[in-house]
Amino acid sequence: MTVKIAIIGGTGVYDPNILENIHEEQLETEYGRTLVKIGEYKGKKVAFMARHGADHSVPPHLVNYRANIAGLKQLGVKNIFATAAVGSLNQSMKAEDFVFVDQFLDFTKVRKHTFFEGGENGVVHLDVTDPYCPELRRLLMEVSGNLGLTAHNGGTYVCTEGPRFETPAEIRMFARLGGDLVGMTSVPEVVLAREVQMCYATICMVTNYAAGIAEYKLSHQEVVEVMSKNVANLRRLIMETIES
Ligand code: HPA
Repeated sequence: MTVKIAIIGGTGVYDPNILENIHEEQLETEYGRTLVKIGEYKGKKVAFMARHGADHSVPPHLVNYRANIAGLKQLGVKNIFATAAVGSLNQSMKAEDFVFVDQFLDFTKVRKHTFFEGGENGVVHLDVTDPYCPELRRLLMEVSGNLGLTAHNGGTYVCTEGPRFETPAEIRMFARLGGDLVGMTSVPEVVLAREVQMCYATICMVTNYAAGIAEYKLSHQEVVEVMSKNVANLRRLIMETIES
């Protein structure tokens, strides 16, 4: 049985134990090595990757996004559910809300962001009119409605380089540009997944209002605490969507 579905767990989502018969595989790709856990859920094979490593040891700007996506492609993955802790710039998107984003603004700086660097792979200019898969978003909205979760259909994810949080001036700029949420990982992950024809959705969970909107200083600890309060809902949402 090939593995058609993958979960990429972001901050606070390190535990694949909802899956049965889990084994770990090391995947060799032309971009480097990556680790994946493969298990079963209701008869479907599902791959799980912890984006920052199982112990959150890899910062967002140093994640080997190309090895991760190339590795999942090798397994035969067609659909990816990625999770992301995000800050909110939008008063209607509150802590613990889920947002299935549909657009991004890319403010990353030093990342390898394409499989197509000329040479053997050639040069490709990818269409990103719909960077995030509308069909997975529709399914996620349906399931979150059934589960009674607060979820938003669409939103613009501003991807920063990190690992620092933003200045209030940056957040004011992002808000003027139309950003709703800010995080550090969705780009280039979504772009690479699309370059190899995968259907990719990011499930954002708001953990805080962004710098300058929040009336206090941000901390990674706060992000992790809010994620851990809501991780059971996140897990139910992903697993029921996989089942449907
Ligand atoms: N900024 C960037 N990334 C984040 C934030 C934030 O406020 N919250 C969670 N991830």
